[in-house]
Amino acid sequence: MFSKDERDAIYSVIYKRRDIRTFRSTPVEEEKIQRIIEAGHHAPSVGFMQPWNFIIISAPEVKEKLAWAAEKERKALAIHFEEERGTQFLDLKIEGLKEAPLTICVTCDGTRGGSHVLGRNSIPETDLLSTACAIQNMWLASCAEGLAMGWVSFYKKNDVRDILHIPPHVEPVALLSIGYTDDYPTQPILEQKNWEKRRSLEPLIFHNYWNTKA
Ligand SMILES: Cc1cc2nc3c(=O)[nH]c(=O)nc-3n(C[C@H](O)[C@H](O)[C@H](O)COP(=O)(O)O)c2cc1C
Repeated sequence: MFSKDERDAIYSVIYKRRDIRTFRSTPVEEEKIQRIIEAGHHAPSVGFMQPWNFIIISAPEVKEKLAWAAEKERKALAIHFEEERGTQFLDLKIEGLKEAPLTICVTCDGTRGGSHVLGRNSIPETDLLSTACAIQNMWLASCAEGLAMGWVSFYKKNDVRDILHIPPHVEPVALLSIGYTDDYPTQPILEQKNWEKRRSLEPLIFHNYWNTKA
């Protein structure tokens, strides 16, 4: 179905994709934005409900307000960490909302498709999981387009609803900063900063039963 080169290209994007928080001001081409959003829209979704919307934000005054909401939350969350970890946390750059030329807010409308969306009755949060699939598609597409993307989730949902005029039943799932960058690391930034490292895979795999090795 796919040639070896095509298959290698997919894995290459999966491994190279990074969460980025530093951007150049160079604008993102319209056709790239369109392709990235199309990639999101082709994600799987429970009962094919397609619960997402994409709010494309380029106005500096709106980005300023979103950056304010993220900064407020970052300071509020710092109290959860012990002294040294708290200082380390406050030193981390966790968003690039003002710098990035483009932000896309991806939302999830759990009411889309009515109250009996196939499969959603069993696990209601499958609407959010579907939206996360759309976001991952956009992340991989951005990487393939030579663009950097950062997923920002540091905010109070109601702050973002107020700023972007999102109705109360719709979830603002992510603010995605997108743009070009001069620094696209090979390692996750949190790993570079000694915050967390990738776990070895082997202990995470069980066979037949939880906590059971082959
Ligand atoms: C649901 C979700 C929310 C995230 N929120 C943030 C965030 O608010 N700020 C941030 O700097 N990174 C955020 N990230 C990015 C993670 O920190 C990043 O994916 C992780 O450190 C691994 O790095 P990598 O994406 O470069 O592989 C988020 C990622 C996910 C999946």
